[in-house]
Order: sequence, then structure tokens, then C-alpha cells
Amino acid sequence: MTGVSIIGIGNMGAEIARIAAKGGSAVQLIVTAEGKGVDLANELQATVGVTGTTLTGDVVVLAVPYPAVEGILDTYADQLAGKTIVDITNPVDFSTFDALVVPADSSAAAQIAGRVPGAKVVKAFNTTFAATLATGSVGEAATTTVLVAGDDAAAKQQVIDLVQAGGLRAEDAGTLKRARELESLGFLQLGLAVGEKVAWTGGFAVTR
Ligand SMILES: NC(=O)c1ccc[n+]([C@@H]2O[C@H](COP(=O)([O-])OP(=O)(O)OC[C@H]3O[C@@H](n4cnc5c(N)ncnc54)[C@H](OP(=O)(O)O)[C@@H]3O)[C@@H](O)[C@H]2O)c1
Repeated sequence: MTGVSIIGIGNMGAEIARIAAKGGSAVQLIVTAEGKGVDLANELQATVGVTGTTLTGDVVVLAVPYPAVEGILDTYADQLAGKTIVDITNPVDFSTFDALVVPADSSAAAQIAGRVPGAKVVKAFNTTFAATLATGSVGEAATTTVLVAGDDAAAKQQVIDLVQAGGLRAEDAGTLKRARELESLGFLQLGLAVGEKVAWTGGFAVTR
């Protein structure tokens, strides 16, 4: 059984936890304060601990805003080697809403990989709104498809398997270099939703 530690249980973290639990993974929730996450942990028969608690999962999902990532990598610096880190962030500069905060030739995922060279970083979930993870569909017609990019084939497959076991579609979007394009897509989609051009229950769909 795959163990999945989910750091952050907001809109995205909670839905990813539900997907992982539905697929039969042992889920650990990492929260910011004692007492948070109890209802979700009961719902999913998951364990829960505050930031700093030893990570039990082989797969670690960073389901937090990008600015929180650095502190988490510091906190868990001695535990992340060998693990699959799933970066779901859209590193948008919210002061301007006009750019990403990572260099144009890089990505949040690449920055994380640079910080934790012993870990296997996978980009996933950043192009799917939380509501579409919950319902399993983008709008009314298309099955939610999680796009997954990474350099380590086994780690990428681990994430694809996790998504599929949870009832959604997943597609291999290429190496970690593609995280840059995925983050651009996520940024564009976010802008469309904020501008009320697409619904938070919709967005970009992948059809065959
Ligand atoms: N929402 C979407 O549809 C969507 C889609 C694609 C990608 N994303 C990306 O997904 C990430 C999460 O978004 P979200 O919408 O789920 O945000 P959210 O609802 O605001 O949740 C963020 C969570 O992160 C937690 N957190 C912050 N710092 C933490 C730390 N040091 N340790 C543990 N938990 C910490 C927060 O805990 P507290 O509440 O206790 O502070 C909160 O539970 C973001 O990077 C976003 O860009 C979101």
C-alpha cells in the first residue's frame, strides 16, 4: 500500500486526500495547528499531525501556497531524500496577478527539485481546480484529467497510479521541464476563473 503524506488540507489538499484514500493509500494529513483536520482524518481513516511530525508517506504532496513551500522544505530537509514530492502549486505573483514568481526559464517544481536534490519531484494537479477533483468532471462533459510531469519514471507512475486508483484520469505530460508549461496553463486558467470567463467547476479539459 502506498503511503501518502499531504501537507496542507485546504481546497486542494482535502480533495487529493480523498482521491488517495479512495484508491486505497494510507493517508497522513499534515496541518498547521493541533485540532485541525480531525473531521477529514475521521472521514478518511487517515492519521493527522502538525507540521514537523515525521512523514509516513513515500509520496509527499505539497498542497500549500507556493510561498509556504520553502519553510516546509526547511522543516523536512532531513526526511525528503528518496521520497516522491508532488508539487501542485501555481506560483502566481498575487501582488500583480501578471506573472509567476519563478524565473521564466524555470518553474516552481524545478526550484523545489533544486532545493531537494535527493527527492523525486513530480508536478501534478496544478491544472485541475479543486472542484473538478471532487466531482470527477470538468464542466459537464469531460472526465477530470490530472496532467503529470517528472524526470523519475517510477515516481511519475506512482502519481499516475494514485490518481487513476482514485477514479480520475491521469496523463503523462513529459519530463519535469514541462512543469513550466503546466504552470503557465494553471496561471492562465486561474486568470480566466478570476475574470469569471470559466467556472471553478470547469476549466481546461483533456479529451481524446
Ligand atoms: N484551489 C484550486 O483549485 C487549485 C488548483 C490548482 C492548484 N492549486 C494550488 O494548490 C495549492 C493549495 O491551494 P488551495 O486552494 O488548496 O489553498 P487553501 O485552500 O488556501 O489551502 C492551503 C492550505 O495550506 C496550509 N498550509 C499553509 N502553510 C502550511 C504549512 N507550513 N504546513 C502545513 N500546511 C500549511 C493551510 O493551512 P491553514 O489554513 O491552517 O493556514 C491550508 O490548509 C496552491 O499552491 C495553489 O496554487 C490550487
